[in-house]
Amino acid sequence: MSKILITGANGQLGKSIKKLEPDFPAHKFIYTDIQELDIVNKPDTEQFINFHKPDIIINCAAYNQVDKAEEESEIARKINVDAVSNLSSIAAKKNLAFIHVSTDYVFDGRSFLPYNENDKPNPLSSYAVSKFDGEKEALKYGKKSIVIRTSWLYSPYGHNFVKTIIKYGNERNSLNVVNDQVGTPTYAADLAHAILLITEKNDTLNKPQIFHFSNEGIASWYDFAIAIIKISETDCLVNPVGTSEYPLPAQRPYYSVLNKKKIKGFLNINIPHWLSSLEECINLIKHSDHEFK
Ligand SMILES: NC(=O)c1ccc[n+]([C@@H]2O[C@H](COP(=O)([O-])OP(=O)(O)OC[C@H]3O[C@@H](n4cnc5c(N)ncnc54)[C@H](OP(=O)(O)O)[C@@H]3O)[C@@H](O)[C@H]2O)c1
Repeated sequence: MSKILITGANGQLGKSIKKLEPDFPAHKFIYTDIQELDIVNKPDTEQFINFHKPDIIINCAAYNQVDKAEEESEIARKINVDAVSNLSSIAAKKNLAFIHVSTDYVFDGRSFLPYNENDKPNPLSSYAVSKFDGEKEALKYGKKSIVIRTSWLYSPYGHNFVKTIIKYGNERNSLNVVNDQVGTPTYAADLAHAILLITEKNDTLNKPQIFHFSNEGIASWYDFAIAIIKISETDCLVNPVGTSEYPLPAQRPYYSVLNKKKIKGFLNINIPHWLSSLEECINLIKHSDHEFK
C-alpha cells in the first residue's frame, strides 16, 4: 500500500483524482488544500509530511490565472516556484516520489511539430515563466521527481473553458473565439488516471524526468468551443477571430501540441481523443443531479 499526499486537492485535478480513488484501492489518500496545508509555508509543510508520512506527493496546487499573473507575478511565483521547491526538497530528503504538474505554456509555440519532453522551453508570460521555474525546482532535488506537462485542462469542477463556453453560450446569441492558437484539450479525469498509474510504478522511479500528457488530437480554441456548443446542445453561434482581435495581458503560444509518445510507452496506455473525453465530461455535467463546484 502507498500513502499519497494530494496538495491543492480542491482544484480540478485534485477532485478528479479523488473521484478515481475507488479504482486504486491499494492506495491511501490524504487530501489537502490551502486550508489544511499551505505549501508556501515550508516549516508547516515539513511538519505535516513528518506527521502523515506519505510515500508519494502529488502536487495539484497552482496559481493558474494566466492574465492576472502579469500583475501578480510575486504571488504566482510563491505558489508555482517557491512552494514547489518546498515540496520537492522535503520529498527528496525523505526519498518520497514527487509528482508535479506543469503546462504546455512553457513553450513559445513557434514549432510546427508536437513538442517533445526535451524540446527547449521559452515561456512567453509571467505565468509561464513561473511554471517553467517551478519545473526546475521540481526536478532539482530528488531521483523520484516527475513533472507532467499538460494543456487546456477542463473538468466538471471549478472554472474552465468548457464551463465558461456553456455558460456564455446559454446567455448570449454569439461568441467570438480565437482560431489561431492550436493545442489539445485535456480532460482532468484522463490526466488523473495517468498520474495514478505512474504512482503504481513508484518502485521503478529512479531519475528525475518529464512527461507530456494531453488528450489525443489537435484543436484551436474555436474548434474546442464549437464542439462544446454542439455536444451540450447550446443554441449559440461561435465566430472565429484572430488573437490580435482579442487582446489579453498575457501572450500565449500559437502552437502548443504535446507529443505523448513517452508516457504512452511508459504506462502502456492509449489516450482518448479530446472529442470523446469532452463528450464524457459534458454528459456528466448535464446528467448529474448536483451542481459541480
Ligand atoms: N487549468 C489549466 O488549463 C491548466 C493547463 C495546463 C496545466 N495546468 C496545471 O495543472 C495543474 C492542476 O491545475 P488545476 O486546473 O486542477 O488547478 P486549480 O483548479 O486552479 O486548483 C489548484 C488548487 O490549488 C490550491 N492552492 C493555491 N495555492 C495553494 C497553496 N499555497 N497551498 C495549497 N493549495 C493551494 C487552489 O486553491 P484556491 O482556488 O483557493 O487558490 C486550488 O484549489 C496545475 O499545476 C496547473 O498549473 C493547468
